[in-house]
Amino acid sequence: MDGMPITGTQAVAIGSDVYWIGAFDPSLRSFDLILKTANGTSYNSYLVRGADGVCIVDTVKKEFQDIFFKRLESICAYDEIKYIVLNHMEPDHTGALPELLKRAPNAKVYLSFQAQGMLKGLLKEGAENLDVTAVTTGDSIDLGNRKVSFINTPFLHWPDTQCTWLEDCGMLLSGDLFGCHFCDERLFNDLVGDFRFSFEYYYAHIMRPFKHHVLQALDLIEPLDIKLIAPAHGPILREHPREYVRHYHSMSVPHLRREGEITEKTLLIFYMSAYGSTGDMAKEVLKGAEQVSGVRISLYDLEGGEMPPFVDLIEEADGLVFGSPTINGDAVKPVWDLLSSLCSIHTQGKLGAAFGSYGWTGEAVAMIEDRLRGLKFKVPVPGVKVKLIPTNEELEECRAFGRLIAENLTGTNAPRVIDFSDLL
Ligand code: FEO
Repeated sequence: MDGMPITGTQAVAIGSDVYWIGAFDPSLRSFDLILKTANGTSYNSYLVRGADGVCIVDTVKKEFQDIFFKRLESICAYDEIKYIVLNHMEPDHTGALPELLKRAPNAKVYLSFQAQGMLKGLLKEGAENLDVTAVTTGDSIDLGNRKVSFINTPFLHWPDTQCTWLEDCGMLLSGDLFGCHFCDERLFNDLVGDFRFSFEYYYAHIMRPFKHHVLQALDLIEPLDIKLIAPAHGPILREHPREYVRHYHSMSVPHLRREGEITEKTLLIFYMSAYGSTGDMAKEVLKGAEQVSGVRISLYDLEGGEMPPFVDLIEEADGLVFGSPTINGDAVKPVWDLLSSLCSIHTQGKLGAAFGSYGWTGEAVAMIEDRLRGLKFKVPVPGVKVKLIPTNEELEECRAFGRLIAENLTGTNAPRVIDFSDLL
């Protein structure tokens, strides 16, 4: 490769008997409805040739299957295809699969255990007569002079995802992992334009909610002698591939609190207040929580903040409390804005709670609690609602509420006694 854009319909050699047979989609401006794609994207598919046959790894989005088949035909006949490996079942990589199966009807399909049900969902009755093998880490296909091995890397970013490893040439065909939406027809990372922003943006939106799964995958990937990473989107990483592995590691470990350095729990209280009542409640919630040792508590007025740094804080916090007045039967918009920003991080199992002042009916607290439960927060402490101005007794109730939240975080709360008469 001399840096010239790939304009024809030929397969592109990326190593010894390994070829890129994917498609460029330069016009795409948003992906999966949620990602902006200023540079479009590519759907990377690969062909691996061995002494005993050909293996196809992933396909392309259906609309791009014509160019995919032309590239494939430029390098092999359909009756040479012995195996089709599916690293990921999302339609941007399986769109051309039904047609490929028609053209190579004797090919055996290899995928992860988690992908089996998805294959049936994609092909419907067409899946019944297929020769399908579910594989996991350590399994491999023998192509005669080379092995095609599998590494199970679930939840990156679907349950089914896996990587394919060619040990003889040190190539990791990584699926969405290490990918990015950056269409540049010069194809290789040492030839394309600067794609650092796209790489990190893709990670932030696709992989970030699954950081702990990323770290588990890196445990399997880091020991490999990697010479090239061939992801399912964006540039092929042949120059300094390990730098991208290191960068993934760096983006996936906690930064605000490093494992083992801080043992205290962190509790964040976010509030908004129209006339000061919810703000007064927030300060008392903080005072109550401060009565419990081992908890670091922070108080933020949402009116004076931006969402991205708050999301960073929440990602590494143990507990999250929202204070909102009820206005027109709802919590206020910045609360919903922050809650809707949490889909990019892992929130399952964190502690959540809500409180607020109201004038008429006070729906906000229950609505926030429902949303927290929907995000898989634990909500063990019932919220506190105050009509208009809190009394001294109600402020004391706020302190007790804060203390109980902190005790739940530290595990020092009194065991719950169930009164069976409450169940009648
Ligand atoms: Fe590129 Fe998750 O599909």
